Amino acid sequence: MTQRISDRETALDTARSLLQSCQKVVCFSGAGLSAESGIATFRDTETDALWSQYDPTELASPEGFAAHPERVIDWYNWRRRRIAQAHPNAAHRALAQRPDIVQITQNVDDLLERAGCKQASVIHLHGNITHDRCHQRCGFQHKIDLANPPGPGRCPMCDAPLRPAVVWFGETLPQWAWQQAEKACREAECLLVIGTSASVYPAAGLIQVTKAMGGKVLVINTHASGASALADMELIGPCGEWLPRLLS
Ligand code: OAD
Repeated sequence: MTQRISDRETALDTARSLLQSCQKVVCFSGAGLSAESGIATFRDTETDALWSQYDPTELASPEGFAAHPERVIDWYNWRRRRIAQAHPNAAHRALAQRPDIVQITQNVDDLLERAGCKQASVIHLHGNITHDRCHQRCGFQHKIDLANPPGPGRCPMCDAPLRPAVVWFGETLPQWAWQQAEKACREAECLLVIGTSASVYPAAGLIQVTKAMGGKVLVINTHASGASALADMELIGPCGEWLPRLLS
């Protein structure tokens, strides 16, 4: 049963004790992690969440790209420029201070890396907006300049269209990332679930993986979410406030 503790200091102490009793801690994060850096989430009720303003089938699907490639690239380039201007927040920095915690994120930004997490140690389940790749998956991928992203282009190896190296609706997750994430969640003694609505699968299913193996689930979110029912403990509030105190 989820433990909801009204007194914040008592809640913090209980969460710290839980973490300290665990050797293997894994973090599974979502858009809420970058919200305090000014990056829009997808489904928040109180903010200008992206999917309340834009249609994901038009902007984040292979069908949308086939119909209007320029519109899709323009939208991603607008997001890229926003990310280029953003800075890691206190939550990113707190996580980066703990290299022992495996980082699994649904976020396509590079704010965890810019906070100091080693690039190779962050598992990006939904890809990276920092790269373009060949739409036909010939293997070509390259890093782009987030502040000055390129317009529509062709793959230099096979001439297929280039596109952001992110996962779109209807596409499968990168196999390596998924296998690493599933393994980490199976082995986790505690899964920290940070700033995600836990509504997009298969990513959200990772919480169930930890739970089924007997690991504890500690959720930090400004609101109740799809992870609430699986939480052993839930800290309600901004992760930029909770995480520095929890992990210090
Ligand atoms: P959502 O936008 O669905 O959820 C963001 C969550 O963060 C919500 O539950 C908020 O309550 C919470 N939140 C907002 N600000 C917060 C803060 N400062 N501290 C803590 N929590 C906060 O984002 P995701 O769960 O990441 O997929 O969405 C999953 C996927 O859906 C994304 O990766 C993206 C999207 O479609 C793809 O692009 C493939």
